[in-house]
Amino acid sequence: MNQLHFIDENGSFSIEQPENISYLYFPLASEKGIKSSLTPNLGGDSKTDQETFLLEPVSAENLHNNRSCRNFWLISEKDGVFSATGSSSEQETAKFTDYQDKSKITAGFMWHTLERNSSALSVETQITSFIPVEDNVEIMYITVRNLSGNTKDMIPYAAVPIYGRSADNIRDHRNVTSMLHRIRTDSHGVLVCPTMSFDEKGHRPNSKIYYVYGCGDNGHVPECFYPTVEDFLGEGGTYTHPRAVYENLPGVQAGSAAAGKEAMGAFRFPRIQLTPGEKAEYILFLGVENSQEEIARVFEKYNTPDKVQKALETTKSWWKKKVNTGFHTGDSNFDRLMKWICFQPFLRRLFGCSFLPHHDYGRGGRGWRDLWQDCLSLLLMDPDGVGQMIEKNFGGVRIDGTNATIIGDGDGNFIADRNGIARVWMDHALWPQMTTKLYIDQTGDINILNRQVYYFKDAQTERGSRIDTLWDAGQGSLLRTENDDIYAGTILEHLLIQQLTAFYEVGDHNIYRLRGADWNDALDMAPEHGESVAFTCAYAGNLRELASMIRLLDRLSPKKTAELIEELRVLLNDNTELFENIKAKKDLLAEYMQSCSHRISGRRFTVRLSELAENLEHKADWLTKYLQDHEWIDGESDEGWFNSYYDDHGQAVEGFFPNEVRMMLTGQVFSIMGNVASQKQIRRIINSADHYLYQKEIGGYRLNTDFHELKFDMGRMFGFAYGEKENGAVFSHMAVMYANALYRRGFAKEGWKALKTLAETSLDFDTSRIYPGIPEYFRSDGRGMYHYLTGAASWFMMTMITQVFGVRGEAGNLILAPQLTAEQFDSQGNASVSLVFAGKKLEIIYENPKRKDSGTYTIASVTYDGQHIQTDGSGQAAIPRRILDTLSDECHHIIVKLN
Ligand code: G1P
Repeated sequence: MNQLHFIDENGSFSIEQPENISYLYFPLASEKGIKSSLTPNLGGDSKTDQETFLLEPVSAENLHNNRSCRNFWLISEKDGVFSATGSSSEQETAKFTDYQDKSKITAGFMWHTLERNSSALSVETQITSFIPVEDNVEIMYITVRNLSGNTKDMIPYAAVPIYGRSADNIRDHRNVTSMLHRIRTDSHGVLVCPTMSFDEKGHRPNSKIYYVYGCGDNGHVPECFYPTVEDFLGEGGTYTHPRAVYENLPGVQAGSAAAGKEAMGAFRFPRIQLTPGEKAEYILFLGVENSQEEIARVFEKYNTPDKVQKALETTKSWWKKKVNTGFHTGDSNFDRLMKWICFQPFLRRLFGCSFLPHHDYGRGGRGWRDLWQDCLSLLLMDPDGVGQMIEKNFGGVRIDGTNATIIGDGDGNFIADRNGIARVWMDHALWPQMTTKLYIDQTGDINILNRQVYYFKDAQTERGSRIDTLWDAGQGSLLRTENDDIYAGTILEHLLIQQLTAFYEVGDHNIYRLRGADWNDALDMAPEHGESVAFTCAYAGNLRELASMIRLLDRLSPKKTAELIEELRVLLNDNTELFENIKAKKDLLAEYMQSCSHRISGRRFTVRLSELAENLEHKADWLTKYLQDHEWIDGESDEGWFNSYYDDHGQAVEGFFPNEVRMMLTGQVFSIMGNVASQKQIRRIINSADHYLYQKEIGGYRLNTDFHELKFDMGRMFGFAYGEKENGAVFSHMAVMYANALYRRGFAKEGWKALKTLAETSLDFDTSRIYPGIPEYFRSDGRGMYHYLTGAASWFMMTMITQVFGVRGEAGNLILAPQLTAEQFDSQGNASVSLVFAGKKLEIIYENPKRKDSGTYTIASVTYDGQHIQTDGSGQAAIPRRILDTLSDECHHIIVKLN
């Protein structure tokens, strides 16, 4: 039986005895920088960045290993010891027996309440954890209620270990860095200000103050303190049996100091006596600030239950409002899951790809792909300013078509890689165009293509194959001309350079080289001869779409020409014989790269937009035919698929091998999405994917079959156990992109199967064992892994809106082209989506009383606010932008009758 239940329409949920499930964690964060993770026992950690961990950093295994979690204790001399987080030695022993406390977690966006009943003490405790939107503090709001018929006499203790330093110090001078700690107590709690930060980058003075404060509803302040771990645990004590609590040891007073030890935010509150049913309340503050004044300000802001409850409500409604997209289908649990999926892109922006327990890599920065993925979901939820964000992000493109990979805070802050280690991911040039396309579709702002942006410049040159010795950091990270002027080119020029340089960088099979890897980061061992057929297909699609954007620009803007840098002219070679000739292609690319390896001329030439579009279309057509002729694998009966890669020995990785069939999903996704596969081939691909990759119970389509080989000539993924991460897991991002590709080509039923299986597995708590949302992947037993921080969420959301509901922009107009299957309508035959488009709040309601299936209905009528829109009896309708622009700021209902 599923233990997890939704409790409202926004996806808030509850689960009983959550501590009986391993690896659960929940994210909390504010827009100010603090980010926490919480386990059912309130383990997990809290930090503002890699250097600033308030609580000790945790990886997945620490979740059941560590006992140093946030804790709140109650001692009754008569009835014993009780930890409100369930972290005492007695409570651990009672786990899975009849004596286990009753516990429950209820949670929603950025709030988490843990309830626990102590049968020994007859008290009920509730700890609500949240991070107010505008502050760097995690608040624990605790209530203690006497459930017995007698007056209860208890002593409360708060206990939160303060780590207070960089995550690097966990295995780099952990003990030495504790010597830097200077610890104080004041009347509200414990403060730690390390004297310096100490690492290989150099030793710097520190001014950050980490603190744990507390107060009670009745004006109670702590009466004594245990500011070091040793004080609190006592000789031989442990976190589940701290002697300070069990033996009621005397602590120190406010105003004391300690130094050079592991710090502890622990204190005792005055004894309480609760009459039957009576409640006591406490507030704990876990934070980090640059000054004592800031700490005092934060304390003052949240130091009563009233203030905390108000802040909690504000936090809840802030995040609820942020997630301004909602779905109504025939399955209300799916709709609630979608709320979490739409919330996940916010988490990815706040946490990056680091900072949750599974994500124990990276230092918090975002990668190139994430930058562009974030924009996708923003375009759908909070589009203001995305245009500028896109412009700034293009500033990371180098003139050779590669891009900066070290990304600083704030938009458009790209940092030169001083180590000179070149790594080129061959898929990187793909995503900026996809995002720009969505931007133009949604907003109609085709002129973004004409906006001028600088190019990024560092010592990496000629697509990472050479170091530019003439460049030094003093020259800044912007490309200059021979006259030393900083050069800016249009976004169109950036896109052309990205797509065209990729076109010529081919390997032995005339397929785009894999280089350091493609989307699959773990295909990182075939840099010489590896080729990615999958992404060659994707780029073929991109060339065609860029051509169509250029044609739109040609139609809508008075200027029929574009000005491009002189050097780029060679990339516009239109000779099919050259396309066939690998060496000639490489030479051409080398010629281009050398011409701009340090500086560029700054001269421009003019080209007609129509000519440019035609040029790209020729390339796309040639690629499509070439891929068709060379990469299709004929399967048995009605099966077949595209080979996705060549390894470092130049061998095709897929097909029929002596002992097994090898198939990968990536090549199928992009041959379908990039319009390389024909409709007939798509049918055969689907049959093969269903045969070789689909496993319903674990989320659906796996990334690949089991190769039973380490393949040192392909990548580290083959070192992972089969079913883990990039080696054959149901990797959500690729599975969602498979669905997206199928929908784009009109295969709604099959696309829905991919999405639905992911959603069902996620929601099947007994299998996935994750809180609602989409994880990065499902491993071979179906457990959801690397939860929350995944680009799959943006893509899931985008696919639901623009393909399943078919609500999307086309040059700024609103297109309605539903591909909902019969089962997605409710019992009345309705399905709806609420969202913001063109700055207007819209609810689009599809009425399909006969519950017809996708492909069998057409649009009979469309009305907005009671007014009719012209339709042509097809499956698609459009609402012109000029109509949308006249709408007020209220929510408008668009009713679409299907027939
Ligand atoms: C992760 C990485 C992403 C990469 C993918 C496959 O996926 O963040 O950049 O392309 O693995 O290696 P995600 O977190 O988006 O699910």
